[in-house]
Amino acid sequence: MRGAGRNPWGSALSLRLRLIGLVALIFAVSLGLGGTVACISASRSIEREMRAALAVAQQTIAASVAGLDPDQHPERELQRLVASFRGNRHLRVSLEGKGSEVTLPAADAAPLSRAPSWFVRLMAVPPSSARVPLLIGGRDYGVITLETVPHNEILEVWNEFGDSSLILALFSLPTVLLIYVFIGRALRPLDRMAGGLARVGGGDYSVRLEGALPPELSRLRDSFNRMAAQLAEMSAENRRLNQQLLGLQEQERSELARDLHDEVGPFLFAINLDAANIRRHAEAGRVSLIAGHVEAIGEAVAHLQRQVKSMLGRLRPIGLAEFGLIEAITHLVDFWQRRHPAVEFRLRIAPEAEGGSELMETTIYRIVQECLSNALRHGRPGRVEIRIAHETDAEEGGRLRVTVSDDGEGMPSGAGLGYGLLGMGERVRAMGGKLSVAGGPGGAGLVVTAELPLALQVAA
Ligand SMILES: Nc1ncnc2c1ncn2[C@@H]1O[C@H](COP(=O)(O)OP(=O)(O)OP(=O)(O)O)[C@@H](O)[C@H]1O
Ligand SMILES: [Mg+2]
Repeated sequence: MRGAGRNPWGSALSLRLRLIGLVALIFAVSLGLGGTVACISASRSIEREMRAALAVAQQTIAASVAGLDPDQHPERELQRLVASFRGNRHLRVSLEGKGSEVTLPAADAAPLSRAPSWFVRLMAVPPSSARVPLLIGGRDYGVITLETVPHNEILEVWNEFGDSSLILALFSLPTVLLIYVFIGRALRPLDRMAGGLARVGGGDYSVRLEGALPPELSRLRDSFNRMAAQLAEMSAENRRLNQQLLGLQEQERSELARDLHDEVGPFLFAINLDAANIRRHAEAGRVSLIAGHVEAIGEAVAHLQRQVKSMLGRLRPIGLAEFGLIEAITHLVDFWQRRHPAVEFRLRIAPEAEGGSELMETTIYRIVQECLSNALRHGRPGRVEIRIAHETDAEEGGRLRVTVSDDGEGMPSGAGLGYGLLGMGERVRAMGGKLSVAGGPGGAGLVVTAELPLALQVAA
């Protein structure tokens, strides 16, 4: 917007018109420069020609006068001599004799046409003249004056200029027209691309550009098509993940509702009942019966506390905020160790893993939680190892590498992705990291590795 404000032509003139304007300007400047050079050279050549005509006439007159006989009526001969210049286009010759005067103007090459006065001024050929004294046999017969008349030559140059300009115009006009048409055709695919981009901008990623194009534009078209395909893929992936997320949310809500209904509801009802019984026994004075109900209420409350704690645990990893990541993972390992005493658990966590953002710690915890549960559910391992290492990287500014490996049966061929691995991938990508799942050494077991850059964590 600001750029367009600074340059009003920027938005008003199309690229096509601007290119044509540039070509026309180049033609005009070349024509101007060529014309100037031609003018200077033509002016010099006319000047040279005028000087030469003057010198030749001077010599001719001097030679003729020298050959005249004073006794043979030289006046008549002199008039004949001047008359011999009739038809000369470069000189005006006049005789100022004793008793006779004759002026012979220069012959007009084209009597009806003249070069325009501005052109004559532009050629700037200075007039020159010469006087030849007429001394014959010691007697003075006057003088012959010679003056240069350049307008015939200037008219010739003017006519040549006219012809050349016509030829140039005949050449330039079709050239400019051809360029105009060619640019129009060359730019037409850009309109299609602009239309395609507008559709992509509007969320339609199915659009693709087809058709043959020049190499420069075909690269643009291929990049556009790749971009649209990638956007379509990402949009489909987004939709799928959203659906999955909604499904998981629904599933989690119904599980919580079921737990509230099955585990919390009956105990609240039981507490209510016990409270009513206590009131009844108290009113009837049966104090000895009250203790049983009080004990029952205590047990129900203890049960409710356990249920609420377990529900909270599902909503948020227990102990992560209170004790930190290392402690929370240690609890998790203890939990599984109690249920699988034969499995050897190994835990190696770099101290740098702790103290990051809550999002980073939750991500790591959830990855380890899912990997542990996968290994024990699907792999039947003898050993499970959890490793969180801190790696420094001059370029990327450091990262945490979370590796969970087991020596179990490994992933069966053709095993599909469940919510566990999908969700893990999604969490890692959201942190700007990379997740890889591969067989362990010798193809045994499974190794899940998540690389999580710390830079994003700071920026987040
Ligand atoms: N450590 C492992 N050892 C062997 N097979 C594994 C292991 N981890 C994952 N798998 C295989 O990969 C599949 C996908 O795992 P994923 O965690 O995505 O889904 P799931 O565990 O089957 O279901 P859930 O959505 O409850 O996690 C599993 O069904 C299993 O076949
Ligand atoms: Mg799983």
